[in-house]
Amino acid sequence: MTDDLTQPIWPAIKSHAKALRQQELTELFEKEPQRANRCFLSSAGLSLDYSKNFYTAETQQLLIELCEQSDLEHRRQQMFTGASINSTESRAALHTLLRAKNAPNKELEGAYNQTKVSLDKIRGISEKIRQGIWLGATGDKIRHIVHIGIGGSFLGPHMADEALSALRSKSDDITCHYVANVDGHHISSVLEKLNPSETLVIIVSKTFETLETKANANTAKSWLEATLPSINQHLIAVSTNIDAATNFGVLNDNILPMWDWVGGRYSLWSAVGIPIAIRYGYKVFESLLRGAETMDQHFLNSPPDQNIPVLLAFFGTFYQHCFGAGSHAVLTYDHRLRLLPDHLQQLDMESNGKSVSLSGDSLSHHTGAIIWGGEGTNGQHAFHQLLHQGTRFTSIDFIFSLNADHNLGDHQDKLVSSCLSQAQALMVGRSLEQLASEPSALKRAHKVMPGNKPSNMIILDRLTPETLGALIAMYEHKVFVQAAFWNINPFDQWGVELGKELGQNILNALTGSDIALDPSTEHLLNLYKKARHTQGTK
Ligand code: F6P
Repeated sequence: MTDDLTQPIWPAIKSHAKALRQQELTELFEKEPQRANRCFLSSAGLSLDYSKNFYTAETQQLLIELCEQSDLEHRRQQMFTGASINSTESRAALHTLLRAKNAPNKELEGAYNQTKVSLDKIRGISEKIRQGIWLGATGDKIRHIVHIGIGGSFLGPHMADEALSALRSKSDDITCHYVANVDGHHISSVLEKLNPSETLVIIVSKTFETLETKANANTAKSWLEATLPSINQHLIAVSTNIDAATNFGVLNDNILPMWDWVGGRYSLWSAVGIPIAIRYGYKVFESLLRGAETMDQHFLNSPPDQNIPVLLAFFGTFYQHCFGAGSHAVLTYDHRLRLLPDHLQQLDMESNGKSVSLSGDSLSHHTGAIIWGGEGTNGQHAFHQLLHQGTRFTSIDFIFSLNADHNLGDHQDKLVSSCLSQAQALMVGRSLEQLASEPSALKRAHKVMPGNKPSNMIILDRLTPETLGALIAMYEHKVFVQAAFWNINPFDQWGVELGKELGQNILNALTGSDIALDPSTEHLLNLYKKARHTQGTK
């Protein structure tokens, strides 16, 4: 896999990187005493400290040139103004419209008004449920939400709900349960704890054709029907496919829209996020959108070298192509953000895991990063060893909140000092000279930590609906900028279609259809058939 990236500036970036990586990150601070302050940007209640990166005034100029040569400004305008930039599906990508204060142009006034109608519906439904006006079929208040969806119809709301958990009232009079996997263990573990008369099932599926979601929706519907005189007040759907939702049995009034101009992994800001409004109140959902919109304005109006998403995109691409970074880790030093890496996996890898450029040419360089991560400080006792002493180069985002929402004394001190020390250790390492007091040469060799490993530090003033919205929007725009650098379409996902088709084939083979399968699949399927026949499910 060669790396012939298209922009003419890349050879200069690569030769600059070759020289730059010979330097110690610590030297950059020695040469520039104000570096920690200079490489620090704030917007929308969050800040990016990018000082622990291989980045100098020369890098800054190369970044600006790369953005120029990637036509970033034009691409960005196209996205915000509704051009069909999702070229393979002839669609716009208007997740920013969902949180906009007004339509960016006349052409989008219709779509903008549709988003407002949807927001009014979200407000109406959430307020009726929270005020006990919307009751179940037997007159019980709704106390439990079962949100059924997968991918972008699941990850965003599930992550946001956990992130906002400090807002849960002690009584927590409405709980939310998220079901995605078709594995029966998932939905059965949720339904067995709940009482149908107090439960509202929300089926979220842009297509209303997804195998897992349909299976779970049918199971939940049967569960409701088994004990309730009517299920009309216990079913809501969020979809573009109104007919399919209606045919499934959802009242038309209880169907909220999605649009084909919003990608699933970008849809939290639509009715996909309704559990947030139901559980925490519409104002919280609105604040989530406000935070995202503030980040949109920062992304739209900041020059490249003062632009948080652009800088994150640059470092990710820079380290991938010039430092051999094999993956990107998101380390969330806030327990409530522990689901963020899962959301970012779909956002980033389903957007930029491509091998063909916009013009249809096969790419001869990697695009998309392998996104992984976990919550700090847990990772320090699990995978940080590889980050400190492994041979791989990993680009890293640390995230922490300045202010905690608990009053447990020094816990936050310990959390934040752990986060800062990990980034510090990655940068400074530990040399042989510093191990001179270790008598064993063998042990000295094993204790050396190379250091000189960069990282981004993302700091939230406090984890609130606003800063959460800004954080997620920041990553959406980072992914978009990287797609611009790679000249790929981040808004389609043809790579998931084959698996779905073959899955249906095998399912048909399981139910008796005579389908030709490759020897491996045939062998494995017979193994399963035999087990299923002899033992059966419980
Ligand atoms: O993974 C493929 C995908 O289409 C995602 O893009 C999407 O978020 C998920 O499946 C669920 O799709 P739907 O919302 O149509 O059920």
